[in-house]
Amino acid sequence: MKRSEIRNILIAGGGMMGKNIAFVFSSDPSLQITVYDIRPADVRAGIRENCAQLLEKGVLESAELEERLSRIDFTMDLDSDAVKSADLVIEAVFEDMGIKRETFAKLEERCRPETIFCTNTSVMSPTEISRDLKYRERFVGTHFWNPGHLIPLVEVVKSDATSDETAETVMEILADVGKKPVLCKKDVPGFIANRMQHALWREAISIVENGIADAETVDTAVKYSFGLRLPQLGPMENADMVGTDLTYNIHDYILGALEDSHEPSPLLAKLKEEGKLGFKTGEGFQKWTKEEAAASAAALNEYLIRMLYGK
Ligand SMILES: NC(=O)c1ccc[n+]([C@@H]2O[C@H](COP(=O)([O-])OP(=O)(O)OC[C@H]3O[C@@H](n4cnc5c(N)ncnc54)[C@H](O)[C@@H]3O)[C@@H](O)[C@H]2O)c1
Repeated sequence: MKRSEIRNILIAGGGMMGKNIAFVFSSDPSLQITVYDIRPADVRAGIRENCAQLLEKGVLESAELEERLSRIDFTMDLDSDAVKSADLVIEAVFEDMGIKRETFAKLEERCRPETIFCTNTSVMSPTEISRDLKYRERFVGTHFWNPGHLIPLVEVVKSDATSDETAETVMEILADVGKKPVLCKKDVPGFIANRMQHALWREAISIVENGIADAETVDTAVKYSFGLRLPQLGPMENADMVGTDLTYNIHDYILGALEDSHEPSPLLAKLKEEGKLGFKTGEGFQKWTKEEAAASAAALNEYLIRMLYGK
């Protein structure tokens, strides 16, 4: 299917990600969006709530929000016209292989063979999710990041059977609705960005575990050094900037000293066992009051809006 043929978007799963993804697609006034869920959900109210900060900061006008919401419907009926006439489906149901496979099997019975099927799985293999489908070439991963209405990146992940045309059409429509799609050419765990993010987390936890610095200091070191320049200078450009010769020499000296465990850290396992789950229980690597936890989430959204919209 070509980008120009896409009019009807179906989001399967109206939870946190599904609502935000519906809002993202509504930025194109020619698109009609329907959210399908097995449970009742007030999708419009949820989107209004998620957009409160955008309204407050003047990034979004309330008339524009209402117009966008008027093109977002909700259904619990898999046999509705919205499902049959979908041109592109984004699945955002629970992160469970069985539920995802079953959802796509039901959709395949009802949608046209050319309808594009996307999965918003965080970590599961698009190849495995689409294993039993008949038309596997129109299936692709689309990994949105949370908060989905703010973070621009969407990783478009090819399975072992995704056609180039499917990946191209999905990249095109995501760019049209204001996202920054990147193509992940191989279906590997963590796709592109999470592989890097968790390599960093593994080292950060190891530094704490080995008594080199405490958790707060680790975060300070990131925020006031390379974290500050990362949005402008990615690691590959940085390697060229300092020179591949210098990068080689540094890696030759340091790589042997870095954490390379293939298991979650014992410290992380201990915190989990002790019920020290972070914000939800008031303690993880650090202690958090309810107010501090709420302030952290709000500050993140404020920061993102300032970075992305200058407001
Ligand atoms: N939360 C994140 O930070 C994040 C980020 C990127 C991707 N994801 C992925 O997005 C997907 C959804 O995550 P979420 O955080 O929105 O979860 P969520 O629990 O908020 O929402 C899941 C929704 O799916 C619905 N659902 C469950 N089974 C269904 C079915 N058979 N048919 C239709 N709807 C069904 C539930 O009723 C619920 O509304 C998951 O695959 C998750 O891994 C999550």
